[in-house]
Amino acid sequence: MKDSPHLEKIFQDARSICVLTGAGISAESGVPTFRGGGGSVVWKGMPFDEISSARMVRENLDEVWEWFDYRRNILKDCSPNLAHYILAEWENKFFDFTLITQNVDGLHTKAGSRKVLELHGNINRSRCLQCEKRFQMNETDIPHKPEICDECGSRVRPDVVLFGEFLPISVYQEAERKSSQCDLFLIIGTSALVYPAAGLAEVAKINGAFLIEINPEETPMTSLCHKSFRMKASQALEFLRRFVR
Ligand code: APR
Repeated sequence: MKDSPHLEKIFQDARSICVLTGAGISAESGVPTFRGGGGSVVWKGMPFDEISSARMVRENLDEVWEWFDYRRNILKDCSPNLAHYILAEWENKFFDFTLITQNVDGLHTKAGSRKVLELHGNINRSRCLQCEKRFQMNETDIPHKPEICDECGSRVRPDVVLFGEFLPISVYQEAERKSSQCDLFLIIGTSALVYPAAGLAEVAKINGAFLIEINPEETPMTSLCHKSFRMKASQALEFLRRFVR
């Protein structure tokens, strides 16, 4: 690639690097994306952003759990792909490396990443509607369990950020702080349509970071990026791997 020397210097000079991932990085693991393929996911006639909404938790928690257990059943057979493993490898290659994900599939952790800022929660964790006690589920706990909190007897819900809900504030603040301090920001496999996650790329750009996008398609962030790889995450990261010692 003609600008390899420039990219090599960018990676070698980078002391702090942030990576923001979306559903696209898990596509090669067999995890369906939300908006890929020209259509959006529909569940029993409901678009995914309706079934995955705060309103549905209030109105029909059973339906929400049926949707999440359906996704968990798909995910239990999915493994990390090369892109996840390369990012896990990079965790110790930089003075300061921060992995921020919008994904709830846990595949970065499965690939060996030890510190993952999960902006939207984790599909194998649930929390009590009342006292907010959290429960880690095995991916094979399908249907989900427990149904009832053993502390206060209330029902539990997926510990995932749904449409109309706030992100876990401490996780987001850490992600924003790291994005504002990094030299290099990679945005991988996200349509960059959902805020505040997508806004982290803008935070990085304003603070002088070099932005690289990895996505087979253009996104609203493309014009903000210094370099775009119009290819799959594993292909682009395998190419960039040569610049990381
Ligand atoms: N490698 C890299 N990118 C890919 C690949 C791949 N192999 N396959 C698809 N993509 C890209 C698509 O082009 C698309 O831009 O991944 C992106 C996936 O976009 P979405 O499905 O919108 O997923 P994401 O951006 O993570 O959604 C953000 O929206 O639904 C909510 O909370 C949910 O976290 C999610 C958020």
